[in-house]
Amino acid sequence: MESQQFWSNGAISMQTDFSWPLMSNNVTRSDLDALITYLQKDDPRLTHGPAVFDFESQWSSWLGVEHSVMLNSGASANDLTMLALREMHGTGEVIVPPLTWVSDVASVLHAGHKPVFVDINPKSLAMDTDKVIAAITPQTKAVFLTHVLGFNGLTNELVAELNRLGIPLIEDVCESHGATHNGKKVGTFGWASNFSFYFAHHMTTIEGGMISTNDSDLYEMSRMLRSHGMLRENLNVKTKQKYLIEFPELNPDFIFTAASHNMRPTELNGILGLSQLDRLDSNVELRTRNFKHFLSILDPAIFRTDFEIEGSSNYAFTLVLKTADFLLRDQVETALQVAKIEFRRGLSGGGNQLRQPYLRNIKGLPSASEMIETEHVHHYSWYIGNYPELKSEQIDWLGSVLKGISGKK
Ligand SMILES: Cc1ncc(COP(=O)(O)O)c(C=O)c1O
Repeated sequence: MESQQFWSNGAISMQTDFSWPLMSNNVTRSDLDALITYLQKDDPRLTHGPAVFDFESQWSSWLGVEHSVMLNSGASANDLTMLALREMHGTGEVIVPPLTWVSDVASVLHAGHKPVFVDINPKSLAMDTDKVIAAITPQTKAVFLTHVLGFNGLTNELVAELNRLGIPLIEDVCESHGATHNGKKVGTFGWASNFSFYFAHHMTTIEGGMISTNDSDLYEMSRMLRSHGMLRENLNVKTKQKYLIEFPELNPDFIFTAASHNMRPTELNGILGLSQLDRLDSNVELRTRNFKHFLSILDPAIFRTDFEIEGSSNYAFTLVLKTADFLLRDQVETALQVAKIEFRRGLSGGGNQLRQPYLRNIKGLPSASEMIETEHVHHYSWYIGNYPELKSEQIDWLGSVLKGISGKK
């Protein structure tokens, strides 16, 4: 099949030698025109300003929360949330999955918390509820759940138990914009939620991230932490007054309330966000339709098809072998390579984080092999791009590519 056949609406692949690249370019002509129109103004403001503020407010309405703070990446959203947790609740244990992105674990370490790893539920790919509840101790400061590759990772039991115990739930929704739990968007159940707008995700601001919350104190804290911890970013007059009285010898413009970083976006990221948000829902719908079609072309004797897909919003197709079979794995990879279909093994973040070198000097962590379900995914799974422009025939063709796979020599 010719690579051009897969593309329509001017979507452009970065790598021309793949017939089916991992991602399509989801910055459209109209997004670029929005930027150009803005730049043609007399003296356009480029550092973050009204457009970012407007995007934050539209994002909050889209999601269904009170407040959002835009950042320069999803990793920054992770870092900021963990710093805010430290500033507002102190350091302690944070329950994390081994199947996630590096920044979810690194942010816990950066802020001085201790990561406590809990294995996943193979049907949702998020942390197993019973294992999370069993891992809670008096030192638990938060549960940091990742919604993996568009699946809803929440359960009623988890939400109810964390509410009962008063333990903050933090949702990483960087891979799952628009997914729902009980019909309500994920990212609205926790104390805080994190989003990424990196190029490869459901929508993009080139680079970008968001933290969303219903807690106005966390909102003010996030505004400060985004900008070096600076008090002047805080919109709460009472908080400002408190600091001014306590630190009269400091210039009010330069009061740094917490050790933080610069995680600010630019105004151009905000303009892109506003332009992209308009088509997020329709793209989620198309991707969901594609994903259901994808599951229907898989041989359930070879691949897992029993995912919990209610409310999912997948921007990738998840291929997971049913059995731990290296021969089968080689056959899948060869078939995809021959067909020039780009893939990533290990799903979110390349599989089991406990196998990664950045954790090798951290004491007291479990061994990677203790995470049995994550280990399976680490070795025997892949993801493939799922974008709105995919055609039905292309998904059928993927089915024919995978058909010859049997595990037998
Ligand atoms: C689950 C998850 N969290 C955080 C991030 C970090 O987002 P960003 O690439 O915008 O820094 C990613 C990145 O893809 C991710 O998949």
